[in-house]
Parts: sequence; C-alpha cells; structure tokens
Amino acid sequence: MRFDILTIFPNIFDSYISTSILRRAQQKKLIKIVAHDIRKFSKDKHHKVDALPFGGGAGMVMTPQPLYEAIKRVKRLNKGPVIYLTPRGKTFNQIKAEKLIKKKGLILICGHYEGIDQRIIDTLVDEEISVGDYVLTGGELPALIIVDAVSRLLPNVLHSPDSHKEESFSKALDRKKEYPHYTRPAEFRGMKVPKVLMSGNHKEIDKWRKSKLS
Ligand SMILES: C[S@@+](CC[C@H](N)C(=O)[O-])C[C@H]1O[C@@H](n2cnc3c(N)ncnc32)[C@H](O)[C@@H]1O
Repeated sequence: MRFDILTIFPNIFDSYISTSILRRAQQKKLIKIVAHDIRKFSKDKHHKVDALPFGGGAGMVMTPQPLYEAIKRVKRLNKGPVIYLTPRGKTFNQIKAEKLIKKKGLILICGHYEGIDQRIIDTLVDEEISVGDYVLTGGELPALIIVDAVSRLLPNVLHSPDSHKEESFSKALDRKKEYPHYTRPAEFRGMKVPKVLMSGNHKEIDKWRKSKLS
C-alpha cells in the first residue's frame, strides 16, 4: 500500500518510518511512504503556505493554492482517498484501520495553525479523520498513527501473521481489550506469574485469558 503524506515538516517522519516494522515493510516493498513538502508547491516567492483568516480571529490558515497543487500531483501516483487529519473528523479506531487496508492507498493531509482553507476540504478531501478529542499542533502525529495502525494489518507486515488477530479491539476478541501478558522471570520482586499460565493446560489458559478480557 502506498501512503502519500502532505506536510510542511516532511523531516518529522524520517526517524519513525525508518525504524522497526515500518522499515522492514518498506524494505520488503509491502508499503511505500512518501512525505511531500507542501511548501514546494507554493507559488509565493517566499514559499508561504499560510495567511490571516477572512473574518478575523486568532491564528493563521493554510492557503488553498499549495495544497491544491500538491493534492493534484499526488493523486496521479496514489488512487486512494484523500484524508484530512482534523479534530473535527470522525474518530479513528481499529475498525476504521481494518477498513482502510482495503483501499488502494491513502493520501494524508497534515494541517497546521488553525487548519486548512475550507475550499480544499469541500472539493478535494474525501474524508476527515480525528485521532481523538484533543488538539495537537499539527497533523503529522495523526498521520503516523494511521500509517502505523494500517500498515501492521497488511498481509506479511508482521512477523507472525496471527499477531494482530488476537489483539485489543480485534474481531477474534469480540472488540474487547486484550488479556494481560507475562514473561520471564516467573517471580519478579515477589510478584508471581498466575499459575495457570505455567500449567501447559491450553484449555485452562484460554479460559483464564477470556476471563481477563475487558
Ligand atoms: C492546532 S490544530 C487546529 C485545530 C483547529 N483550529 C480546531 O480547533 O479544530 C492544527 C492541525 O493539527 C492537526 N490536528 C490537531 N489535532 C488533531 C486531532 N485530534 N486529530 C487529527 N488531526 C489533528 C490538524 O491537521 C489541524 O489542522
């Protein structure tokens, strides 16, 4: 799957996407992540991408021209929906991530300041997604959340194909939160691992785990 991210801070993504599972998934060509600098599309001689809001009010608004050009360019490479990350959008969750893996790709727009000009949303954005009821300084963290949550659900991205099937919010767990995990040592600072997990009795282990789902 191809992810095209439109941002004024493309460098933010470098470290996260070149580490761990996302790095391996790119090496195996299972995903492609490209961060595009919106400023490069600005026709302003200083590459400005923001202006004061009509009607007054605090803060700046991202101007439509650079975003228009950027989206048009990226749409030639990516046939997926254009998603604007915004606190006003529908809240992202695991069910949404499972739906997004079926798309051909995703184009993610990261806003800054007070957000982007409404005319871009009205004409070029397919969906508005929020990552929660709080306000961040920009859409880069929300974009990374979506890239990460969607990528790990794609076939062959995780080492063990069944890893995500029994995770919190998965269908197999009836959308409940996962059971607790324990590893070595069997006793740590006086705290013992529940006996049933060391019994080797898988029926009992399953029963215990189900009882711990919340
Ligand atoms: C400071 S916020 C703008 C907040 C906006 N004025 C409001 O009150 O809804 C700047 C940008 O960060 C991103 N952003 C902030 N919080 C977000 C959230 N919870 N979910 C998705 N994107 C978010 C959006 O792209 C937004 O355009």
